[in-house]
Amino acid sequence: MSAQYDLRPLARAMQEVLAKDMMTGAAPTSMLQAAIDALSVQQFGRSFASGHSLPVCRYFEDGFDASENDVVGALCGSWAAMDWMQNPNYRDRPEMQDYRADSGFCEICGPRGLIGNSATSVGFLVMGPGLFYPSHSHPAAEAYFVISGAAQWWRAGHDWQINEPGSRIYHSPHQEHAMRTLDAPLLALYVWSGDLVTLPVVSGQPATTTYCE
Ligand SMILES: [Fe+2]
Repeated sequence: MSAQYDLRPLARAMQEVLAKDMMTGAAPTSMLQAAIDALSVQQFGRSFASGHSLPVCRYFEDGFDASENDVVGALCGSWAAMDWMQNPNYRDRPEMQDYRADSGFCEICGPRGLIGNSATSVGFLVMGPGLFYPSHSHPAAEAYFVISGAAQWWRAGHDWQINEPGSRIYHSPHQEHAMRTLDAPLLALYVWSGDLVTLPVVSGQPATTTYCE
């Protein structure tokens, strides 16, 4: 019999991260509330079979510390239920080869998600250590919540900054942004609202050559 996964602990842990942020107002409240609703426990009242894995999933076995927080703990026990994906827009881009080799995302709720949703998308991005995600943009508004792994983040109009676990980053529609991981893999929860179908495209321009020290 194939493995079955209970995703309710993960959904609850994700809701807690989003609910905590609603109190600080770092991202639009309506966006976060839609994601919390999408993650309602009723949606996850069944078991899930194994999904599609990628090489980057190895960090759930040897990289992330399941005791770091509830989201990491729940995901370390259930990552195999997700369909881990890569952006097809990057497939034929030579400058994205390293990024593609050690990254992936999964959608818990959304048009590509385990739970279908056309109004909001919630999922995770994983990047291996020492990896650069060049400047890219998309029409969806995006909120990121760093769950594990301090990394350098950049968005148009701002300097590079290091965001530690517990940080929130908001990207408005079409705002260019980039990331560079340091010596730890990055696990970030994302929420998208607006155009959920159009995936990111890289701009072809370096975000900036100046990084944090
Ligand atoms: Fe983005």
